[in-house]
Amino acid sequence: MNSIEFDYSKICNFVNQEELGVLYPEAQKALERLKDGTGKGSDYLGWLNLPVEITPEDLADIEKTAADLRAHTQVVVVIGIGGSYLGARAVIEALSDSFHNYQNTGMKVIFAGHNIGEDYYHELIQYLQDKEFGICVISKSGTTTEPAIAFRLLKELLEEKVGKEEAGRRIVAITDASKGALRTLADQERYKTFIIPDNVGGRFSVLTPVGLLPIAIAGFDIAALVKGAVEMRRICLSDDKSIALEYAVARTALYRKGYAIELLANFHPKLHYITEWWKQLYGESEGKENKGIFPAGADFTTDLHSMGQYIQQGMRMLMETVISVAKPDYKVEIPADAANLDKLNFLAGKRVDEVNKMAELGTQIAHVDGGVPNMKVIMPALTAQYIGQLFYFFELACGISGSMLGVNPFDQPGVEAYKNNMFALLDKPGYEEASKAIKAKL
Ligand code: PA5
Repeated sequence: MNSIEFDYSKICNFVNQEELGVLYPEAQKALERLKDGTGKGSDYLGWLNLPVEITPEDLADIEKTAADLRAHTQVVVVIGIGGSYLGARAVIEALSDSFHNYQNTGMKVIFAGHNIGEDYYHELIQYLQDKEFGICVISKSGTTTEPAIAFRLLKELLEEKVGKEEAGRRIVAITDASKGALRTLADQERYKTFIIPDNVGGRFSVLTPVGLLPIAIAGFDIAALVKGAVEMRRICLSDDKSIALEYAVARTALYRKGYAIELLANFHPKLHYITEWWKQLYGESEGKENKGIFPAGADFTTDLHSMGQYIQQGMRMLMETVISVAKPDYKVEIPADAANLDKLNFLAGKRVDEVNKMAELGTQIAHVDGGVPNMKVIMPALTAQYIGQLFYFFELACGISGSMLGVNPFDQPGVEAYKNNMFALLDKPGYEEASKAIKAKL
C-alpha cells in the first residue's frame, strides 16, 4: 500500500448500487466542469494544478526563508485565520511529537490571529517577553480583523524588543501580489513576502506558501507533502472512477437520503487539526443556499466516551467518515500485571495499536448496526507524503461534491454577516447606517 485508500463498502445497508450508480455520471460531469473551468466559481481553480506547478526553486526559496528564521529565533508565531491557518497547523500537529513539543525539529511554531481572546494575547505577550521570536503573518485579503489585531500587537512587541530593523528581518508576510493593507505595509517595511495566487482561495491554499512556509519553519518535509499531492492528483485526474469521485458520490448519495451531517472521525490523536482543516474545507465550500452537509469532527476513542452515546442512538442523521492510519510509528506493548485487578491480562503482550484497531473495527460495526453509514479513508502511515495525498483527495472530492450540490464551492458570502454586524457595533467609519439599524435591535 503506497497510497491512501477509500472504502465505502459499509454504506451498502443505506444506499443501494443503483442509487450510487446513477450518481457516477453526475460526478464525472462535475469533475469535467472543474477540469475545463466551466462550473461555478471557476476563477478559483488554481488549487487543481498547484502541486505540479510548484517548482524546485519555489521550494528552495521557502526552505531558505524558513532556515533564516530558524537561525535567528527560538519561536515563530504564525498569524492567520481560516484557510490562512488551519492547513499549516494540521500538518505541524500531525507530524510533531505529542509531548516534546517540537523537539523533533528544534523549532517552536505557535499560532495567533485565529481568535480575539484578550487573555490569549496577554498570555502570548508574556510568553514571548524572554524569547527570540519571529513572525509569519498570513492574510490573502490583507484586511482580516483577527490577524490584523494580532499582528499589531506582536509587531509592536518585536520592534520594542529588537528594534525596527531587526524586526523587519524577522517578519515574513504572505499575502496578495498587489492588494490589501498587509501588502502595502510589507512593501513599505520591506518584509520578505510570498504571494498567494489570485486563483487559489484560502481553504484550498495549504500547498502555497500559506501552508508550506510554516510547515518548513517547523522542520517538516514540504517536498514530500507536495509529492504526495502530485501523486494523488495523477491518480484522481487520470482515473474516471477515482477515490475522490467515489467519496463525492458516496456522501452525496447519503445526503440525498437525508443524512445531513458528516462526522469525520479518527483513531489517532495527532489528526485533530486535519479534521479542523477538513471542517473548514467542506463547511465553507458547501454550506450555502440553505443546502449542504454539516461537517462535524470527533477524536476516537476519546469522544466515544462523550459523543459516542449520541452517535450510537441519537437522531439518525449522521454519516461517518473515519480516517484510519494503518501503521503507527512506534511499538508499545501492554505489560502483564501479577495482580490483574483490571482483568486486562488477556491484553498482555499485545501492541497498543492492536487494541486501537479492534476499537476501530468494533466501533464501525456498532455504528453501522446503529444506523450510521460508515466510510473509511486509510492512510498507510502518518507521513508528510500521505498527508499531501489526503489534502488533494479531500480538495478534489470537495470540488466535485460542491458542484453536484449546485452551489459555488469556492466562495463564502455568508462569512461577511458577522463581520458587518461587528463593525457596525464597533462604530467603524462608513458603517453609520448599519450601526443605527443594529443598535435599534438591541
Ligand atoms: O477559505 C477562505 O477563504 C477563508 O477561510 C479565509 O482563508 C479566511 O477568512 C482568512 O482570510 P484572509 O487570508 O484573507 O485573512
